[in-house]
Amino acid sequence: ALPVILDVDTGTDDACAILLAALHPDLDLRAVTCVGGNAPLDDVVRNTLVVLEAADATGVPVGAGAAHPLLERPVDARHVHGPDGMGGLSRPDPTTQPDPRHAVDLLRDTIDAAAASGDPVTLVPLAPMTNVALLARMYPDTFARIGRIVFMGGGAMVSNATAAAEFNVFHDPEATAVVLDASADHDVPVTMYGLDVFYEPRVTLAEAERLAALDERGPGALAGGLIRFMSERFRAEDATIGDAGAVAMLVDPDAVRTQYLPVRVELAGTWTRGRTIVDTRDWTGDLDHDPHGLAHAQVDVALEIDGPRVARLWL
Ligand code: BDR
Ligand code: CA
Repeated sequence: ALPVILDVDTGTDDACAILLAALHPDLDLRAVTCVGGNAPLDDVVRNTLVVLEAADATGVPVGAGAAHPLLERPVDARHVHGPDGMGGLSRPDPTTQPDPRHAVDLLRDTIDAAAASGDPVTLVPLAPMTNVALLARMYPDTFARIGRIVFMGGGAMVSNATAAAEFNVFHDPEATAVVLDASADHDVPVTMYGLDVFYEPRVTLAEAERLAALDERGPGALAGGLIRFMSERFRAEDATIGDAGAVAMLVDPDAVRTQYLPVRVELAGTWTRGRTIVDTRDWTGDLDHDPHGLAHAQVDVALEIDGPRVARLWL
């Protein structure tokens, strides 16, 4: 099974992603690290512990990381994910505790151990990339030992937090720029699972009810409740599995079409701060000079997806 670490801001769809990573036989979930994003950090940690308990995966260490983006003030998304950040499904209290290590140290230890055993970790950031940027700057040698990064964030053509930017990148643009820069410097391959594909794997309310009937307090009840909450929030008959699509892509890469393209993060725009600039131009000339002096990052950008196939995998 593929060793993976998720970095999350749980988050309704992060919860869907954690369930898949914890339960799919092809994935070996080694750790989950938490960052402030959809909800404040304390809620994210608590929600994450609740999800792992529902999946009967309490042996997976959970690390609390950055509560605050590198530069700006946090802006959460509880208007989307509910007051607890997880659709009101974070009760009863978790019986487990987070790991005593800071998320960045848990990342370091887990990445180093996997690399030493010859089976490097795939790191899956599904949230603002503050923790991963801190790792890159604090422990660059460890960063270089990451096998691959598959992150949810950005978009070539689609935005949500603002007219120009996707939430995870918008929340901490500098962190995303640092991670892309470090990945280019250290030859860590990066895949961007962004908004161009994010909304397409969808689960219907009827399917959610079937999930919810599977168990009383287990993964079925939680997964069903999450889809039900998100459908109701958007007054739809279905909901996207969101971040979980990025995890599904690890199991079924052929369900997604990617293109290897230059990606930059807009750090300075008045109306475009946090936008990922995906260069889809069909040319092979010199790349534009980066005004921030960052390394030039080439990324596998997810541009098309077989939504029903990915939704079936998650189900
Ligand atoms: C991303 O933002 C968060 O609200 C979701 O969990 C997802 O990671 C989508 O823009
Ligand atoms: Ca998320």
